[in-house]
This record gives sequence, C-alpha cells and structure tokens, in this order.
Amino acid sequence: ASASARLRDLEGRSVLVTAGGTREPLDPVRYIGNRSSGRQGIAIARAAQARGARVTLIAAHVEVELPTGIEIVRVETTAELLDAATAAAPLHDLVIMAAAVADYRPVSVSDDKIKKAHTGDRLTLELVQNPDILATLSHAERDGRLIVGFAAETATDRDDLIRLGREKIARKGCDYLVVNGVGWTTGFARDDNSVTVLDASGAIVFEASGSKSSVADDILGVFATALSGAE
Ligand code: CTP
Ligand code: CA
Repeated sequence: ASASARLRDLEGRSVLVTAGGTREPLDPVRYIGNRSSGRQGIAIARAAQARGARVTLIAAHVEVELPTGIEIVRVETTAELLDAATAAAPLHDLVIMAAAVADYRPVSVSDDKIKKAHTGDRLTLELVQNPDILATLSHAERDGRLIVGFAAETATDRDDLIRLGREKIARKGCDYLVVNGVGWTTGFARDDNSVTVLDASGAIVFEASGSKSSVADDILGVFATALSGAE
C-alpha cells in the first residue's frame, strides 16, 4: 500500500486497548501495584486513532496524559479491568492487551487501615491469583476478532526472551504476542522500546524498536494487515 493509504488502514475498524497497571487494595490507603506507566498502551491507542480506527481505551493506573477524542474507561483493579474488557471486547475488531495486570490480589481487603500495633514486627500477606483476562478473551467467542497480548520479560538474552514468549503465547491462545525486555532501568518508565512480535505458531513475524509511538505505529501495521487478510 502507498504511504497515504497505509496511514488510514484502520478506517472502519474498532480497536480496544488496555493500558497501565492495575492496583489491588490492601486497605483504604494502600495497594499492591507495578511500575507500568501506560506509555506503550496509550501510544497504541493514539496511533490506532491516527490510522482511522474507532478506539476505546481501558486505562488502569497511568502516568501520562490520556488521549482525547476516544472513549476512555477508567479502572483500578484487575477485577474491574476484566469486567470492562469482557463488556467492550465484543464491540471491537482488534483487542490489544497492553495493560500490566496484577497477577495476584490480597485474599482479603481490610476495612480499616492496617495498624502496626496489631500486625507487629513482620506482616505476611496472603495473595490469590487473579483471572487471566487475555486468556479469557482469547478463548471466548471471537467472531473474527483479533487478539494481541504483550509480554514484558526480564530475560536479557534474546533467545531466552523468544523462548519465554513462545511458551506464553501457547498458554494464552491469542493471535499475536508483543514481547519486550524490561528491567530495573529499561521498559516501563522510558520512552523507547524494542519489541518482537510472535504469531500463534511462535514464529517471529515482526521486530521494531524506537520511541514507544513509532513502535506503536509499526506494530499496528502488522495487525491492520492481518485484519484485512482475514476477510
Ligand atoms: N494478562 C492478563 N491477565 C492477567 C495477567 C496478564 O490479561 N491476569 C495479560 C497482559 O495484559 C499481557 C499478557 O497477559 O498482555 C502477558 O502478561 P504477563 O504478565 O507477561 O504474563 P503472565 O501470564 O501473567 O505470566 P508471568 O507474569 O508469570 O510471566
Ligand atoms: Ca504477569
């Protein structure tokens, strides 16, 4: 396609993006969270809008400004994200799960602030695993809907990263998995990113690196092509 045709290659399509980190409350003032800034997911929502899509963004905790001109649903916990995503997914052609979902939540949430006088020197928290939203959406009735997951891994070796990604996409059942390396100083809060896109068979179909907005635009090209190929 020519450059100008490619720019609007999501015209007439609807895209659901989840972004940011979910937070699981412990008591009225505390939560368990993660370091996701929401940057990559929000960049994808903006890029999809620029390519002509109708975009819905489900935003958990984010540290950047939210886009305007798209539908935005705010959520806090993984349970809220699951409800919002399950309700919205059937209304979209492409679902991109860029949110950093808390894997566990506290078994019980205290109604009152947890007090040191009651808990003492050491405090043990009991956590329970959250439902897997990506796997749930992937295994639900699809109607041709394309589903994309993200995998942030701390492996520094590229082969390890790809191997972990292959195992992950097999477990999730989504169509594509965008794999990227993260660490204490790379990934979350930064503006650049480097990703490898795997398809359902585990094959590497695309690699991109650069600013989170250029990565967003590049990977959307892959999904736009896949959507038009599916017709
Ligand atoms: N995800 C999800 N629901 C969860 C956990 C993760 O939908 N409860 C999604 C994320 O949004 C992401 C993908 O699954 O698109 C992979 O997330 P990741 O944390 O890398 O995978 P997990 O299956 O949680 O495995 P682990 O954290 O143990 O590596
Ligand atoms: Ca996880």
